Amino acid sequence: MKIGSVEIKGKTALAPLAGVTDIPFRLKCKELGAPIVFSEMVSSEGLVRGSEKTNRYLKFLEIERPIALQLFGGNPEVMGKAAKIIEECKPDIIDINFGCPVKKIVRNEAGSALLKEPKRMGRIVKAMVNSVKLPVTAKIRCGWDENSMPVSEIGKILEDNGVSAIAIHARTRQMQFSGKARWEEIKKLKEAVSVPVLGNGDVKTPEDALRMLSQTGCDMVMIGRGAMGNPWFFREVNSFLETGESIRRPSFSEVLEVCIDQFEKTVELYGKGYAANSMKKHIALYLKGLPESSNIKMSIFQSRECEQMIDILNRYKEDLEYNFSSDNHIISKAG
Ligand SMILES: Cc1cc2nc3c(=O)[nH]c(=O)nc-3n(C[C@H](O)[C@H](O)[C@H](O)COP(=O)(O)O)c2cc1C
Repeated sequence: MKIGSVEIKGKTALAPLAGVTDIPFRLKCKELGAPIVFSEMVSSEGLVRGSEKTNRYLKFLEIERPIALQLFGGNPEVMGKAAKIIEECKPDIIDINFGCPVKKIVRNEAGSALLKEPKRMGRIVKAMVNSVKLPVTAKIRCGWDENSMPVSEIGKILEDNGVSAIAIHARTRQMQFSGKARWEEIKKLKEAVSVPVLGNGDVKTPEDALRMLSQTGCDMVMIGRGAMGNPWFFREVNSFLETGESIRRPSFSEVLEVCIDQFEKTVELYGKGYAANSMKKHIALYLKGLPESSNIKMSIFQSRECEQMIDILNRYKEDLEYNFSSDNHIISKAG
């Protein structure tokens, strides 16, 4: 499977997740089987202004490839210039965010607000495609609300203007994250365009991934929340798609090992201040379903120092290894 000239060796993708898909988490997903990873969204305006904070989002490591860096913004000219800046960092793909429902983004006529202006979406794609050689992809929702232009037409506009693939989160902006993702919209998009389609929304089990592929005909499955605190999900989905077999969930000890390793990498790459904040949400997700983890979470939330937090995790890991055999595996985090 190819996006432009970029070969993707598998049918799963780590979705862009603001505040989550930084380098250390992407690395974990990669190590555990994600064939392609997407960055957190980056502001085109911030990039063009040369904001230091924005530049942080552009960093990635060679071993993460193939990687897509995601841009948001509503001004075609600025998006073209920002794409050029991103190209200098040499990612494999530049993705456009046409789906973010957050008010602050929508108020600035970016993210899902653009679903109300498909022609402007086309102009944004064209400006970017004309300014870079890298493949440009788009991530959309199925519309702003019930009255939006059908996804088939939006898809054709994006394709005519040169996107190399389209990912679709099968909810409208109005739905935010509520209700059930409407996979039938993924099917409609797939039938309307000839570029690859990445289906997205509510894939929580390997069986869901297989169902999405077979019901919609999409080329790949993009996974967001299912991978949060659960990077093993990729190897589980990959294995199920390839062999139909379910593989064992990670042991308690493995969960802690991966979490601690991610923590240490986060300190190394982004510093202690960022790591202490960011890892709290990752830890809460990693610890979900582990025995007697509420007290551990509480002590972690009360600590400020990374060393102390890592120490708590290490002691918890030892306790788990002492009290439970390595045959104890976490249960599915679905739901
Ligand atoms: C915490 C969080 C952050 C997100 N950040 C982004 C983002 O930066 N860019 C984007 O296109 N979508 C973003 N999304 C949407 C996801 O990529 C995905 O479309 C959505 O979660 C549905 O997929 P899922 O059911 O597999 O989670 C975010 C979602 C969550 C929960």
